Amino acid sequence: MSNRVYIFDTTLRDGEQSPGVSLNAGEKLEIARQLARLGVDIIEAGFPITSQGDFNAVSTIAREVRGVTVAGLARTNPADIDRAWEAVKHAEQPRIHTFIATSDIHLQHKLRMSREQVIETAVAGVKRARGYTSDVEFSAEDASRSDLEFLCRVVENAIEAGATTINIPDTVGYTTPDEFADFIRGIMNGTKGIEKVVLSVHCHDDLGLAVANSLAAVLAGARQIEGAINGIGERAGNASIEEVVMSLYTRRDRYGLETGVNTEEIYRTSKLVSKLTGMSIQPNKAVVGKNAFAHEAGIHQDGVLKERTTYEIMNPAMVGISHSNLVLGKHSGRHAFRSRLVELGFSLSDEELNKAFIRFKEMADRKKEISDHDIEAIVENEIRKVPATYELAYLHISSGTTIVPTATVGLTQGEELVEEAACGNGPVDAICKAADKITGYHCRLASWEISAITAGKDALGEVTLRIAENNTDKLYMGRGISTDILEASARAYVNAVNKMIYEKKNGKPVE
Ligand code: KIV
Ligand code: ZN
Repeated sequence: MSNRVYIFDTTLRDGEQSPGVSLNAGEKLEIARQLARLGVDIIEAGFPITSQGDFNAVSTIAREVRGVTVAGLARTNPADIDRAWEAVKHAEQPRIHTFIATSDIHLQHKLRMSREQVIETAVAGVKRARGYTSDVEFSAEDASRSDLEFLCRVVENAIEAGATTINIPDTVGYTTPDEFADFIRGIMNGTKGIEKVVLSVHCHDDLGLAVANSLAAVLAGARQIEGAINGIGERAGNASIEEVVMSLYTRRDRYGLETGVNTEEIYRTSKLVSKLTGMSIQPNKAVVGKNAFAHEAGIHQDGVLKERTTYEIMNPAMVGISHSNLVLGKHSGRHAFRSRLVELGFSLSDEELNKAFIRFKEMADRKKEISDHDIEAIVENEIRKVPATYELAYLHISSGTTIVPTATVGLTQGEELVEEAACGNGPVDAICKAADKITGYHCRLASWEISAITAGKDALGEVTLRIAENNTDKLYMGRGISTDILEASARAYVNAVNKMIYEKKNGKPVE
């Protein structure tokens, strides 16, 4: 059996099903390009039948992202499969991923089908997909709660109909590592033709076991793992790709398996996904959390300084976290700034570089040392941003325990500067109300979240918020950074309003 494990990334499909996440086509394309650089084998770009937006995103990724298989999800019905094919057909390596549930719970309550009907429908779906492409994945939804003998029959029939990858999802995150390993072995021993296909697993994290279950499955013989960056996905999420990959690499002595992932791209991918989905990464998250390589205890710090491997099982550089000694500050010139951008992997146009340098200087006036994280934040949040109808010119806040919070906000629209003031329940509320007076839109703040990008008292704060126009449910996410959290809130609010205005004017979201 081959020792290569294929990595199937579903950040853009299952990951996008995370509550509150909605990516537009441009954001999906940016993530897909980064996933290709990361070296995943398959990108599941979306579920084309679900909306025109999803169809467009899958089809753009299929046309533009090379060197990777692009999959589109489809139920087993003809309309889904035809639509998935339409979306992926221009990919270098297109895949149709079709699924039907196999557990009795789903058969009785959801599908209202007999076991025979499920087999017939699965076979018809796989055959239809094979009519379009030689790369067809079949998933037995809720497989881990299905009767093993019936599941083997479904899988056997799907293979006979032409499936080339068979996926065994733990759809509700119910199984345990030992049980799942036995289950996978049961499928391998009980299914005719299984040796002809790649056996895949797709684990959800409801009990926090998605990565452990996926790893148990590869030890039992599976050779494709499905997951999402930062472990995002439906409910508690999917197996985290970065944890799977780094486990296989760090413990290659036990697994003896390899992937095609370029681990040095992990950190950048994780940051990008967090930024565009608005889902922040918990500080103690394995591999990519802010604290994953931070040593707090004196004994640990002493040990790491003497010999890194005393308390570090992975080298942070392996996942792309750089520890540069060169500190940039207010005396640093354009040349040093440009060199650091290149080291961090950014290639900016002259215009973007100028803008970034101005923001860098503004920040350096307020903050003694500018770290790599600060620079990444400037570029990712401030430079490559939505076309701006409004820009924040200035902000004045009056707030305290005994006064009504008041904000004075200045926004520019082209050459014109407009100022308004408003009171609110708190300073952020006051800022939003003052901004609304200028823009003429009346929005409610659906969520507001702050995280510190860097350490120290002068840390950069990043605000991620979501707004919706009053009486509508359509959410727009905005982000803003500053050493001042109220300024970061104002920037984030204006960013979200700009996205909303863009979509209204152009009839489509920002690309
Ligand atoms: O969790 C699941 O079962 C899925 C399938 C569609 C593969 O996401
Ligand atoms: Zn899933």
